[in-house]
Amino acid sequence: MHPQKENRVIKLHDKYFKPFISAEEIDDAVSRLADEIANDLGDEIPVFVGILNGSFMFTSDFVKKYPKPCEVTFIKLASYEGLKSSDDIQRLIGITQDLTDRTVVVLEDIIDSGRTMHEVHRIFKNEKVKDLKIATMFFKPESYKKDFKLHYVGIEIPDRFIVGYGLDYNGLGRDIPEVYQIKTTQHMTNLVLFGPPGAGKGTQADFLKVQYDLVHISTGDVFRYNIKNETALGMMAKSYMDKGELVPDQLTIDMLNAEVEKNADAKGFIFDGFPRTSSQAEALDELMRSKDSEINAMIALEVDDDVLVKRLLERGKTSGRADDANEDIIRNRIKEYYEKTAILKNYYSQQDKYYGVDGVGSIDEVTTRLSKVIDSL
Ligand code: IMP
Ligand code: MG
Repeated sequence: MHPQKENRVIKLHDKYFKPFISAEEIDDAVSRLADEIANDLGDEIPVFVGILNGSFMFTSDFVKKYPKPCEVTFIKLASYEGLKSSDDIQRLIGITQDLTDRTVVVLEDIIDSGRTMHEVHRIFKNEKVKDLKIATMFFKPESYKKDFKLHYVGIEIPDRFIVGYGLDYNGLGRDIPEVYQIKTTQHMTNLVLFGPPGAGKGTQADFLKVQYDLVHISTGDVFRYNIKNETALGMMAKSYMDKGELVPDQLTIDMLNAEVEKNADAKGFIFDGFPRTSSQAEALDELMRSKDSEINAMIALEVDDDVLVKRLLERGKTSGRADDANEDIIRNRIKEYYEKTAILKNYYSQQDKYYGVDGVGSIDEVTTRLSKVIDSL
């Protein structure tokens, strides 16, 4: 399968697009149009005229569903440049057959300003057709400036640039079976940062957030903040914790959502301490999708167990943290980390988003390795 034919944000040239209309919705609309038109035309054998390039996919699907005999032909016009409809419409292939006394149904992929429709009507003015009907798969009523009647409309959409199902952005996207809409919000870099205890995750997160202007969201901090400030979510979380129960994922997600929304114009986020399970990872994906974005990478600092033990014992001497003082406890925490993150490593690997980074070396060396990964995203 085309790697871009997935349910996520895609990039065509310099722009990002997000899923908008599913293949099923399109299919339903095409079926409805075919039935409606067949009903209206009765026993007439129509000539369907597809407007190339954009309508090749719609025309093909439509005539396959058309329940009665029909003829199919194409004319080829060109007007769009990049994201804008231009005034200068070129007729590249005109009508090549006699349409005298025929019922003609023009099949358009999308009607935007209506300039193309203007040209279509000019083309047909000299043909002595019996009846001219216009059918369009997509229609942007907010940008339509003409008053030619549009007899059949598949799906009305707001004034937003779309690609897929025959429609392109500078040549790309026509092959995608569903429709994507342009993302106008800024592209973010969202990282999930992992590392066993002692790997230097906190230190590195501090550098990365400055270097890339990211917001560091540590679930532990978010919990403490909400509980300390007695927010509604914090109080709810506390009620579970007081009973010795796990805080439900949805509550954690709601708190993260509030953090993300507080920083709506961030260049991205570093998630730290979340997700811990694959269902949390799915919930996080869902949250980012709702923000028009996605998790771009899971970055895991890799440090050999013996090095970690040495580092933590060293830290224990000065920090006084009890869990940093005992080698068995430390080894157990490390073991637990690997057991818990294996699932997530797997989850993000499947999406080609897992990056292991060697965490042994000076702080600078590790930061440089991390930057290389982030710059490559
Ligand atoms: P109009 O002439 O402004 O009505 O625009 C119609 C033509 O512009 C269509 O046949 C498409 O080729 C192109 N077009 C309009 N809107 C879009 C869009 O959102 N995505 C891609 N092409 C579009
Ligand atoms: Mg077109």
